[in-house]
Amino acid sequence: MEKLSDLRNTSAQDFEWLQHKIDSLPSMRPYFFDNVALYPGCSPESTTIGFFRSDQGYILFFNEEISYTGDDPVLQRLFSDGSFMADTMDRLRAFCQQLPDDLADIPPDIPPIVTVEDNITDFDAITIPKDEVVTLSFDFIRNELRKTVIGQDSAVDIVSYQLAAHLAKPNPKRPLTLLFYGVPATGKSELAKAIGDLLSRYCSHKYGVVWVDLNTYTEAHTVHNLTGAPASYIGHDEPPVFYSVVENPYTVFIWDEVEKSHPAVLKLFMGIMDEGRCASNKELPDHTREYDFRHSIHIFTTNSPLGELGVKKHPIGFAINTDIKDISYVDDAVSVEYKEGPKESEQSLVQHIYEQNEKARRALVRTGVLPEIATRFSGFAEFKPLSDTAKIRIIAKTILNTGFEYGIKLKYIAPAIIQEMANVAGKDGFSVRSYRTIAEGYLSSVFSAAQAVSGPSSREYRLEGTLADPSLLPA
Ligand SMILES: Nc1ncnc2c1ncn2[C@@H]1O[C@H](COP(=O)(O)OP(=O)(O)OP(=O)(O)O)[C@@H](O)[C@H]1O
Ligand SMILES: [Mg+2]
Repeated sequence: MEKLSDLRNTSAQDFEWLQHKIDSLPSMRPYFFDNVALYPGCSPESTTIGFFRSDQGYILFFNEEISYTGDDPVLQRLFSDGSFMADTMDRLRAFCQQLPDDLADIPPDIPPIVTVEDNITDFDAITIPKDEVVTLSFDFIRNELRKTVIGQDSAVDIVSYQLAAHLAKPNPKRPLTLLFYGVPATGKSELAKAIGDLLSRYCSHKYGVVWVDLNTYTEAHTVHNLTGAPASYIGHDEPPVFYSVVENPYTVFIWDEVEKSHPAVLKLFMGIMDEGRCASNKELPDHTREYDFRHSIHIFTTNSPLGELGVKKHPIGFAINTDIKDISYVDDAVSVEYKEGPKESEQSLVQHIYEQNEKARRALVRTGVLPEIATRFSGFAEFKPLSDTAKIRIIAKTILNTGFEYGIKLKYIAPAIIQEMANVAGKDGFSVRSYRTIAEGYLSSVFSAAQAVSGPSSREYRLEGTLADPSLLPA
């Protein structure tokens, strides 16, 4: 999809295809289209859009807030809500058919004919600016990622440092390859997503993001889905996953649940990690038969415990013991500030990274799963069980994000509501993963009621009352 208006005339079959894609992803995990041009009057002019499935239906959303100054009522509503949800894909398609044709109102823009000689005489005074490589600093990357991923400062620091170092190289010899490991629901996939989001937003090279669930790559022949099937095989004409790097060398690949994949799949990554290259079964547009991965970034996630590095199950259920100083909303990220901040480690970061890497490498070799690949990763990040403080912040963030989906900006959340959510989750043995479901279950009716009556300008609220009986008051 190149333009949002393409959705207007998208066929029922294409929507069926999209539904199939979304249904094959876990609930709430979006399927993205990058660089989709919006409409005249929109700022920014293009963005990443995503489709995902929740318990309530199918959702179209924008990766960032879009301001729209035009007068089309469908677009005004869509961009002020930031998303559209329908209970079936057919209804989502019916909504898309109401989108305007973006060419209708653009006045023809015919520039007057001028000749260079008429207007410019002093050519020597004019210079062409050289392409500047803009690099993102370690501090910037760390601050951005910490807004999204809570309570995993060591992992975020390590990853930010290695990302900044990789992005500073104009001619890297190999891709950046990171392994995120640790117990489930501690933020591994969340950090991988946040990195993809950060690079696609801020990097001077427009990064794309490709997410692959390796738990479906359990058979040796599935490597063909990555590299391309040999001629005469079924699927030879379908573009393989690796083809993304031909379309955009600056791609972040997220390889989720790597421990579930067949060893043949891991073998494939060895060449990529060493040389940044991998053979293709088909001739590529540059007439070679080799994928070039040197500019790409690969994040592998696993929740296998890595031998003795494995962490014990952490009991859920806790009480609020930290005072929230401020909850603020910056762009579409939430930050929660506490009266007492965490203590920074005195150990220098580089030393820390080195030690963590060595520890993880040794543990990885001991597991015997990936011995020859263990030495090839650029870096490792361990995700520790979440502290109670982190869980409280994630609850606050989940409530804010749920409100945001309904177009509600919360300036304050009553601590009693956060405490009750912690109690509900703790009592029923839910994990952090279920916070979203609990927030939706208890708060969606108050959010949707407020959304229905409020105008676009008065959407800032205080969430008061109790979880069972919440109320929204103007901020
Ligand atoms: N550290 C965290 N910061 C912010 N949100 C988190 C964090 N950990 C978990 N969450 C929340 O819980 C959900 C599940 O986390 P995530 O998908 O990152 O887990 P994971 O570590 O990848 O688990 P698994 O090993 O099972 O894949 C996220 O969508 C997010 O809402
Ligand atoms: Mg995960």
